[in-house]
Amino acid sequence: MDKREGKDRIAGYREFLKDSIRKKVDFSRTDQNQGAVTPSPQKDISPEKEIIKLSEMGDWPFVKSIDLVEAIAARKSRRKYLDVPLMLDELAFLLWATQGVKSLTHGHTYRTVPSAGCRHSFETYLCVINVKGLDQGIYRYLPLDKALVCEHKVDNISTRISKASLGQAFTGDASVTFIWTTIPYRMEWRYGMAAHKAIAIDIGHVCQNLYLTCEAIDSGCCAIGAYDQVMMDSLIDVDGEDEFVIYMASVGKVKK
Ligand SMILES: Cc1cc2nc3c(=O)[nH]c(=O)nc-3n(C[C@H](O)[C@H](O)[C@H](O)COP(=O)(O)O)c2cc1C
Repeated sequence: MDKREGKDRIAGYREFLKDSIRKKVDFSRTDQNQGAVTPSPQKDISPEKEIIKLSEMGDWPFVKSIDLVEAIAARKSRRKYLDVPLMLDELAFLLWATQGVKSLTHGHTYRTVPSAGCRHSFETYLCVINVKGLDQGIYRYLPLDKALVCEHKVDNISTRISKASLGQAFTGDASVTFIWTTIPYRMEWRYGMAAHKAIAIDIGHVCQNLYLTCEAIDSGCCAIGAYDQVMMDSLIDVDGEDEFVIYMASVGKVKK
């Protein structure tokens, strides 16, 4: 590839960051405007799987009433975790803060984070390594049910997650790694080809809430955008087409 070709290709990728696509989309042709059924805000649950009910807002006395300004000022990426388990109630708090549903109206979920067109295209998977009350394994948050479903157990889970994170060993030391997938159709249903930038913006809000709420429970987190796509999709068992990993963040107890 010569220099000119490389520059053109980079310019092509930059287009993704602009909103120019909106003028190219015929919104009367989107699935929503063609009357297609609203995609469900939560993936189905296999009936044979174990469901773990989570505690709810009001049940979390351990959450320090930390000043918002203090939390923003203290926030940083933390990659060194203590060998101390996260409590299940603490995990419930973090899940609520990142994807919790406050109300459901005509198939739209209003959550603790914003989302373009209220589409909320994400599912939250958890690679659980050291959470009191949970066996190691892959779990999924059920925001409508305020519960977790145990998806499957994984042998050598610390090694698997750190390999799938391109050797970022701190993921293997974390209590839990949040693994967010997107189901792009939830956004495409409304915005067609203009959906994808909105999905990328949406996930940033989710992770920022995780960073800030970790500060209130003596924990720390680190965003992870570098991972092996195929290995990570396979670890949580998603198809990589209609649903795939978009972002991750590891969480653990930290010394402050
Ligand atoms: C989109 C994104 C992807 C990131 N990916 C990684 C990653 O794969 N591994 C990592 O150790 N840190 C990752 N980080 C954390 C950044 O390295 C970190 O935010 C940056 O160095 C600034 O440090 P601070 O968060 O402590 O302010 C990522 C952050 C963002 C926002």
